[in-house]
Amino acid sequence: MRFDYAAEACSSAQREAFTIIEMFQKYIIAPSILSADFTRLGEEIAACESAGADWLHIDVMDGHFVPNITMGPFIVEACRRVTDLPLDVHLMIEKPERHLEAFARAGASRLNVHVETCPHLHDTLEQIKSLGCKAGIALNPDTPVGNIQAVMSDADLILVMSVYPGFSGQEFIPATIAKVADIRKKLDALGSPAWIEVDGGVNVENVGKVKDAGATAFVAATAVFKHPGGIEAGIKTLRAKIS
Ligand code: DX5
Ligand code: ZN
Repeated sequence: MRFDYAAEACSSAQREAFTIIEMFQKYIIAPSILSADFTRLGEEIAACESAGADWLHIDVMDGHFVPNITMGPFIVEACRRVTDLPLDVHLMIEKPERHLEAFARAGASRLNVHVETCPHLHDTLEQIKSLGCKAGIALNPDTPVGNIQAVMSDADLILVMSVYPGFSGQEFIPATIAKVADIRKKLDALGSPAWIEVDGGVNVENVGKVKDAGATAFVAATAVFKHPGGIEAGIKTLRAKIS
C-alpha cells in the first residue's frame, strides 16, 4: 500500500480549505523565503500569510546544479510547523529523484524539478504524484520550451525561470515574456489547467506584463521581503498589479 505523505503532513481542515480555495484562484503570489530574515523566519512567514500570500516558495539549492547552497527538508519541515500555506518547493538540485520522498515527508505540497536534471522526467513526475504532491517542471532561461513539450500534459505546473537560478535579487530577463506566451498557447491547446509560474526578478514593474503573457503564479523574494514598506506592502503592491 502506498503511504500518502502529503495527506499525512497536511491533514488539518484548514489545509483542505486551502486546496479548495486554490481551485477557484486565478493568480497566485508565492513569496520565496530565500530573502527572508532567517533569524525571524516564523514571524516573516506569519506576515506573508496575513498579507494574503497564496503559497510559500522554498528554494532548494545543492551547490552543483546551481552555485549556491540553501535549504533542505529540515527547513521545509520547520515551515510546515508554522503555516498552513501550501509549500511550493523548487528543487535546484541534481538527481532530485533521490530526495523527493524526504521533501514530501517534510510537508511539501508541490515539488518542482528542473528538466535539465531529469533524464526520465515522466517517471520523476509520476514519483512526485505517488507521494501525494503536485508535480511541476522548471526550466532555465536558456532551455527551449520544446524540451518539455512531450511531458507538459503530465505537469501540474510549469515553472519558468526568469533569471539564471542560484540567487535572489537578480534582474528579470525580458525574453521570459515570449516564452510564457508560448507555453500558454501550448497548454491551452492541450486543455491543460497547469499553472504557469514565473520565478526571478518579478516586481511591480513587470508582473502585469508577465500576467498578460499568460502566467498565473508569481514568485518573489526581493519584491516581498526587501520591500521598503515591509512584507505586507510588498505582497499588496504585487497583488494590485495582477487583480
Ligand atoms: C532563484 C530562485 C528564486 C529567487 C527569486 O534561483 O529560484 O525563487 O529566490 O528571488 P527574486 O524575487 O529576488 O528574484
Ligand atoms: Zn525559485
